[in-house]
Amino acid sequence: MHQFKYVGRQLFCEKLRIEDLAKRFGTPLYVYSYHTLIDHFVKIQRAFSSVNPLICFSVKANSNLAILKALVCKGAGLDIVSGGELFRALKVGCPPERIVYASVGKTDREIEEAIRRRILSFNVESLPELENINRISARLGRTTQVSIRINPDVEAKTHKYITTGKLTNKFGIDFESAQRILFLRRKFSRVNLTGLHIHIGSQITTSAPFVGAVRKVSEFIIKLEKMGIGLEFLNIGGGMGIVYNQETPQTAQVYANKILPILERTGLKIILEPGRFIAGNAGILVTRILYVKSTPKKKFVIVDGGMNDLIRPALYGAYHKILPLGKAGAAREKVDIVGPICESGDFFAKARKLPSLKKGSYLAVMSAGAYGFTMASNYNSRPRPQELLVVKDRVFVIRRRESNQDLVRNEEVPPFLSGI
Ligand code: LLP
Repeated sequence: MHQFKYVGRQLFCEKLRIEDLAKRFGTPLYVYSYHTLIDHFVKIQRAFSSVNPLICFSVKANSNLAILKALVCKGAGLDIVSGGELFRALKVGCPPERIVYASVGKTDREIEEAIRRRILSFNVESLPELENINRISARLGRTTQVSIRINPDVEAKTHKYITTGKLTNKFGIDFESAQRILFLRRKFSRVNLTGLHIHIGSQITTSAPFVGAVRKVSEFIIKLEKMGIGLEFLNIGGGMGIVYNQETPQTAQVYANKILPILERTGLKIILEPGRFIAGNAGILVTRILYVKSTPKKKFVIVDGGMNDLIRPALYGAYHKILPLGKAGAAREKVDIVGPICESGDFFAKARKLPSLKKGSYLAVMSAGAYGFTMASNYNSRPRPQELLVVKDRVFVIRRRESNQDLVRNEEVPPFLSGI
């Protein structure tokens, strides 16, 4: 459920008419609904309340400071994957003991900063990384808490680019190697190996892959316990799918009901890292129609947003619903909704049945709150869009539109070229 609804013929975000926002702030424009965001966070919190989990919002899904702050204020922790995300997390005042850090390629500098800041846990993805964290901790005179990211070798049944829990993926450590590392744990005197982590993929719409992975890892935990290796944390990652089109993903409650009995048996402190589930349907991308163009084969609706603003359709062939901000009768014709970028992959929708659309009117690309702005780029030297947060009848600019000056801010022409 989300708070982007038609009232009469006009699409609203909470209590505000989105067309008014588009006219006032310009397009392309990201618009987020505060209450949708918080509502999804609370849904997970409630569903898992029996284990009182730490819910670490996955910053990569939406890293805007206002979005992070809103969630942190409600008790969320943050799941980070880089020094930049650590910077953001600390900037919004996230307590370090609510920050977990995954990534197969953490640099020494990133590791050092996270150790200094005393984050809750590193999710370690390889033996060399563990050795490195141990070495850097020793140098800093610290002892660091670490979870091993297990690659449980389960099929997530999602897009191949966002499947992460098969042994052919670069992520995590297989059970056998993890066991060997845990047996050798005294060798790593500066790390406390206190947890396990899994994350099998993203946009997973059925519970079965989660159940499979959690079952495997909990059996492993019980086996370790019998061998005298006790743990404190189990981080079950993110990955819960949302509705983009006709999917019927498991609700938070159904997901929880399926895995809670297994989690409870482990007796460990539970961490979750949802990103898309919380932010995905809390945001849209608003774009204006520049031209309608017919070719002998097709009709193209050319909009002012492009793959640099929202890359999911181009990169994954992802489906996003497209709604006119002003409802204009029944869907009549099939059109391609395309952006201005010089690539044929620059589209938001193909052969989509929509009401007839006119130059100058606006479209909402729905479910763009996760992996939307965070994956935006300046390709074709396009300033990245503005971001707004709507809270009932109030609107806040949470990121100004970039300017042409922003595009060249860090560039320099070497002096030898100035005389040419
Ligand atoms: N934890 C870890 C370790 C992750 O790698 C991810 C996402 C998450 C949590 C959050 O997953 P979520 O709950 O959002 O599914 N750009 C792609 C999605 C990439 C996901 C990467 N990892 C997309 O637009 O579909």
